[in-house]
Amino acid sequence: MNRTILAANWKMYLNEDTSIDFIKKMSSDIESFSNSEVILFPSHTCISQVQKELKNLNDIKIGMQDCDIHTKGAYTGGVSLHGLSHIDFCIVGHSERRLLYNESDEVVKNKLETVISNGVNAILCVGETKEQKNDGNTFTVIDAQLSILPKDAISRLTIAYEPVWSIGSGEVPSNKYIEDVLSYIKNKLKSLYSDEIVEKINLLYGGSVDKDNINRLLEVKLIDGFLIGSASADFESFKAIADKLN
Ligand code: 13P
Repeated sequence: MNRTILAANWKMYLNEDTSIDFIKKMSSDIESFSNSEVILFPSHTCISQVQKELKNLNDIKIGMQDCDIHTKGAYTGGVSLHGLSHIDFCIVGHSERRLLYNESDEVVKNKLETVISNGVNAILCVGETKEQKNDGNTFTVIDAQLSILPKDAISRLTIAYEPVWSIGSGEVPSNKYIEDVLSYIKNKLKSLYSDEIVEKINLLYGGSVDKDNINRLLEVKLIDGFLIGSASADFESFKAIADKLN
């Protein structure tokens, strides 16, 4: 059986000291994560230190929370995928980037292309706002967000379904709701790509995941793992989630 993906999006919760502290605790308790495939997304400014601290823990993957469309040149403040020695993953299209930083589907599309063409695994986030849900537009929104996917074969892609109304709210959709959306996403992928490719695209759920709801969420068969925000930025609560998988 594949291990469950636990992708920890630390957002802007941790600084260098608290990130290092987290890794120290994790290193001395690594057996708790034996059934999890852990991907850590520290702040850009902390990635190098986190990588150093992880040293021999090759099993733990590292990702960027976002990146620039460009990889080199006169782009003040931009963060390049090439700026770090080794990156396994990069998140694109997180709703906080879409809504707080006005990233359009076009920008997300360009970022996705940059990430994939540079040999990095992309986690593309999709999800509807409360208003879009209440208006019955969930599938239309997801469809538009997925319309940026390249039409030819794709590799190194993961899709994270993160309903905006669930992020940081403690409000988690029912399993049936998540299953319906993930089935919709899967069918959309099947309409674009071969079964062989679709098989390799992992599907994550994100939005208020914690130790108390992880077991019932795991009953959704289409879920390969989770993209976790606040509960991933505190070692004890992240470990409590991983412990549920053991
Ligand atoms: P929370 O787990 O804090 O709801 O955040 C989810 C998220 O946005 C992960 O990318």
